[in-house]
Amino acid sequence: MHLSPEQTTANNIAILGAGAIGQLIFHQLADQGVAAKLLVRRSENTEKKLTITTLDGQTSIRTAQMICVDKLVQPLSDINLLIVCTKAYQVVDAVSALLPKLADDCHILLLHNGLGPHIALSSQLKHHGLTLGTTSQGALKNTPWHVTQTGAGISQLGPFQGPVLAPDLQALLRGTLPNSQWCDPILPMLWEKLAVNIAINPLSAIHHCRNGQLAEPQYKSTIDALLKEVVTVAQADGIALDKSALSDRVFNVIALTQTNYSSMHQDVHHQRKTEIDAITGYLLTRAESHGITAATNQALYEQLKQLEQKYLDA
Ligand code: PAF
Repeated sequence: MHLSPEQTTANNIAILGAGAIGQLIFHQLADQGVAAKLLVRRSENTEKKLTITTLDGQTSIRTAQMICVDKLVQPLSDINLLIVCTKAYQVVDAVSALLPKLADDCHILLLHNGLGPHIALSSQLKHHGLTLGTTSQGALKNTPWHVTQTGAGISQLGPFQGPVLAPDLQALLRGTLPNSQWCDPILPMLWEKLAVNIAINPLSAIHHCRNGQLAEPQYKSTIDALLKEVVTVAQADGIALDKSALSDRVFNVIALTQTNYSSMHQDVHHQRKTEIDAITGYLLTRAESHGITAATNQALYEQLKQLEQKYLDA
């Protein structure tokens, strides 16, 4: 099926980052009649054909307007929502560089893995509303511009700072992202997702295993210790988490994604920089600020950093 590029709407949305999730959301917005622009670091073309294969096996091709942020001269004054789908470690630099080009009323939605960039960005944002979110949707890139949707997990969004996202944009996002919820406050939800990533990502990357293997008895005490530390640090940060509910959630995700390799496993496998600093690293930073020791997380953080450093330095 080849859809028309002219799916215009009063909502001018830009997606920063054309990874698997950024492209998936581009197609999901197109399903709602919104032609989002894709902001990327490098692009030779102003338009690109993007292909998606959805969960029901249907393939669609759409044309996306590409804007190269490195060559941006004109302001992006017509954009009223910027959805940030970059890797966690790219968020602060990428958004800071764009801020002078955005209109004061452009709302920013951070939709990356882990936590941390929201704190660095919040002091830079004077007028912009900031919404935080997490998505457990699954998508893989078959080729740079063809994504396959692999799962329809939940997405949770909620206000963090400044003007709250306009009701029509909230409704649009709720209609766009499957199984999505508007959550106020949002931070407890982001901590719960952080806990899932803290329990699964470093262990699966260090032990070169699929998520499902972490259900084996030898990992139980480590996962338990990791989650206990999360609950303690979150509590010191004013976020109440229930250890047993968290553990159920982690083992449920392990079961639901048993044949998958975690994103951190894939990053290590492909010798890419990982998101450990926004996952375990964020927990350790918060722990340190409260004078709390998180020994099990600290040990995994160091192991993962050593692993990563070997290939990043090579
Ligand atoms: O980062 C990931 O891979 C995912 O967030 C999760 C939930 C751990 C499943 O693989």
